[in-house]
Amino acid sequence: MAAPGASRSASDNEAWWKSAVVYQIYVRSFADTDGDGIGDLPGIVEHLDYLQELGIDVIWLSPVYRSPQEDNGYDVSDYRDVDPLFGTLEDLDRLLAAVHLRGMRLIMDLVVNHTSSQHPWFLASRCSRESATSEWYFWRDARPGTVPGEPGSEPNNWGASFGGSAWEWVPERGQYYLHLFAPSQPDLNWDNPDTREAVFTMMDWWLDRGIDGFRMDVINFISKDPLLPDAPLNRDGYGDGMPYFSHGPQIHAYLAEMKRRVFDPRPGTYLTVGEMPGVTPEQARELTDQEHGHLNMVFQYEHVALDADGDKWTRRPMSVNDLRDTLARWQTALGDTGWNSLYWNNHDQPRVVSRYGNDTTYWRESATALATVLHLHRGTPYVYQGEEIGMTNAGFAGIDDFRDIESLDHYRTAVGTHREDPSVALDALRRQSRDNARTPMQWSAAPGAGFTTGSPWIGVNPNHSWLNVATQRGVRTSIYEFYRALIALRHRLPVVVDGSFAAIETGRDQIYAFRRHLGNAALTVYANLSDLPVSVDRDDRVDRDLVLANYPGSRRDPDRLEPWEVRVYLR
Ligand code: GLC
Repeated sequence: MAAPGASRSASDNEAWWKSAVVYQIYVRSFADTDGDGIGDLPGIVEHLDYLQELGIDVIWLSPVYRSPQEDNGYDVSDYRDVDPLFGTLEDLDRLLAAVHLRGMRLIMDLVVNHTSSQHPWFLASRCSRESATSEWYFWRDARPGTVPGEPGSEPNNWGASFGGSAWEWVPERGQYYLHLFAPSQPDLNWDNPDTREAVFTMMDWWLDRGIDGFRMDVINFISKDPLLPDAPLNRDGYGDGMPYFSHGPQIHAYLAEMKRRVFDPRPGTYLTVGEMPGVTPEQARELTDQEHGHLNMVFQYEHVALDADGDKWTRRPMSVNDLRDTLARWQTALGDTGWNSLYWNNHDQPRVVSRYGNDTTYWRESATALATVLHLHRGTPYVYQGEEIGMTNAGFAGIDDFRDIESLDHYRTAVGTHREDPSVALDALRRQSRDNARTPMQWSAAPGAGFTTGSPWIGVNPNHSWLNVATQRGVRTSIYEFYRALIALRHRLPVVVDGSFAAIETGRDQIYAFRRHLGNAALTVYANLSDLPVSVDRDDRVDRDLVLANYPGSRRDPDRLEPWEVRVYLR
């Protein structure tokens, strides 16, 4: 097959992903061309000019593989086909060719910690201990001295991410299988060499097709403590197995093998980013070490957990101090050994302008201030669809508006099992549900927000009447045009890509200030991350030319930052 990516060569800048801006497309919610209310691959092709105009270098596609869609594609039943909901393999080839034609790149989501329970590997594995894939999943006997299949006889006490025990009983096999997420997402056994080889062969197949890399779903969960021991109990009464399944004993061996086996033999370089809940800065530095690491970068979770009190549904106010300390700590810890990924949003996180910003009074100001702080750190920034126009949380009215497996499970457990007041559970969902990120992309003020002419699979946010691409594109003061300028800054100034990082102590709690250095160039960011004005002492010897700001010039008093004002100086 003629690989649409064949035009890329090893002569491409080795570490091209360092100067890249990545745009995540949650396909189901991006653009629908066939009127079924679900986004599709041809819909992306229609909007490539838009992404190019924004300055995007790489597109990350959330999973489009064949899937029962219990977790919107993060449950794959065939890794080598496109789900008919989204189109065909030919549509994907067309998209890839169109992306490459524009000098952009495309990476796929790689979901290989688990498969769908409908994957042929699992269907065979569950039938018999003699099948070819018998050992491809984690099968264990019931706890000794218990009645198999009865509650309490699970092999260990771990809870699953989407509720209940992490074990499911299969009478045909007379054993339990492990699922860290839903029962429909059985965990693959990476300790089995045949399993690893099957994954690597599949990755080869995609790279041969011309894709430019992978975003690897919960990839730090692939090596588990072989004893799978009981763990201390969580609030929900199940054991928290994290210490035993995250960053397990073979994590380095498996990722090193993947790199050696899949990526090293190929000419050219690929973008690899591992999603890693719970990863520490020290682990991340080792994993992304530019000489000895296995991945280009990882997604860490610390800065998106600062408003969670124990679990994500219990809120505590985010403090700017914590945010600043966390971001700066990751910058310093990875230094020039590793490499950071930079994100506020993705398909699992509520919208940042509603969460850490102010989506009413200072909507534009806070969206642009948060964007600036993020993009001007050292690392590769990720823009999640709609972030570039300041899309907000959804404002869902009732439980019937939610679609996400995790959200629905939380509501059922909170209200059904723990007898929580439904309005309390709903409030938590409105704030933290993943569905906040999944409402349709707001292209225009049309009834389906320009996303669909049909009935959308999840409600469009009513604010699409004024908050949409059409009202912002070409408007100098819009969030969209600000993002364009911010991205252009990265492409224009080497200091944004390669500069070192140093936090600036201003003595003001609500200010985040930092400086990047490269040779004689110094880029300084002052951001007021609050609703109140604040004064700041700047250093005029370094802070010379104002290259980006989110308040119009007339209001600029050099030593005062308005609410959510951000300024970027260059020397
Ligand atoms: C990752 C994905 C999330 C999914 C989970 C299980 O965290 O980002 O959407 O539900 O893994 O695959």
